[in-house]
Amino acid sequence: MKIGYFQFNPFYHNITKNYEYISSHVSRISADLIVLPELALSGYLFNSDQEVQACAETIPGPSSDKFMTLAKKNQTAYIYGCIEKADPYTASTDGKAACYNSSVYINPQGEMKIYRKAHLFNREKIYFKQGNDPFFVFDFQGTTIGMLICFDHMFPEAARTLALLGAQIICHPANLVLAGYAQATTLARSIENQIFWILANRIGTEDCGSVTCTYTGGSQITAPDGSVLISSSRELEELQVVDIDPSLALNKSISKRNHVFEDRRTDLYQV
Ligand code: ACM
Repeated sequence: MKIGYFQFNPFYHNITKNYEYISSHVSRISADLIVLPELALSGYLFNSDQEVQACAETIPGPSSDKFMTLAKKNQTAYIYGCIEKADPYTASTDGKAACYNSSVYINPQGEMKIYRKAHLFNREKIYFKQGNDPFFVFDFQGTTIGMLICFDHMFPEAARTLALLGAQIICHPANLVLAGYAQATTLARSIENQIFWILANRIGTEDCGSVTCTYTGGSQITAPDGSVLISSSRELEELQVVDIDPSLALNKSISKRNHVFEDRRTDLYQV
């Protein structure tokens, strides 16, 4: 299975331009699954609810429709980060549509899954509702996939839950600002769960007037044996694909007498 990511610098608050940029680049490469960064369609920083709402879309909506067409045309599944405007039934009582920091999976068969970020980071808590759906996995070409977003990597329980549900690959769109953390944690999550991990981070600097963020790149794909199969620089745009055997993530035995799930001492984990 050919899996990859596109590390790039999204245009600030410009969904149309970001979609066009992504589609023109990812269409140049043959892959089964490509992961894009968190909030890849909008950029990350916001100054007001109005700015957030202006970059939000329902799902299905205009951008997911375009990704659906792209997935069919390229015979590639995509996972991209965006602001999801919830339907009116889950709108907040203050009259604003609830917005989630979401990741969308779309495959060439037209199937779609949405993951709403569970662990919000810093100013995201001002503008986004936190996801409250239980973590879930899904099948892609006979391989079980799970999704997390950026700061979720700091909570080993999230990755462990996906792995216990059967995830062989965790897809992880990110807008990381703390250099070095996620490269270490996601490698550890790969090893401790014996899974593959696609970390798709962004690059560039954003300034929304009140706050400046520099994103730290360093996207990478890690394997159950602890190897880093591909890694990217902190500053450069990179589209990378690697061929993996996802069945390697089915074996949880790391010695004759050790199985990373069966050896867990849940009887001692009291807190
Ligand atoms: C982050 O969760 N975007 C740091």
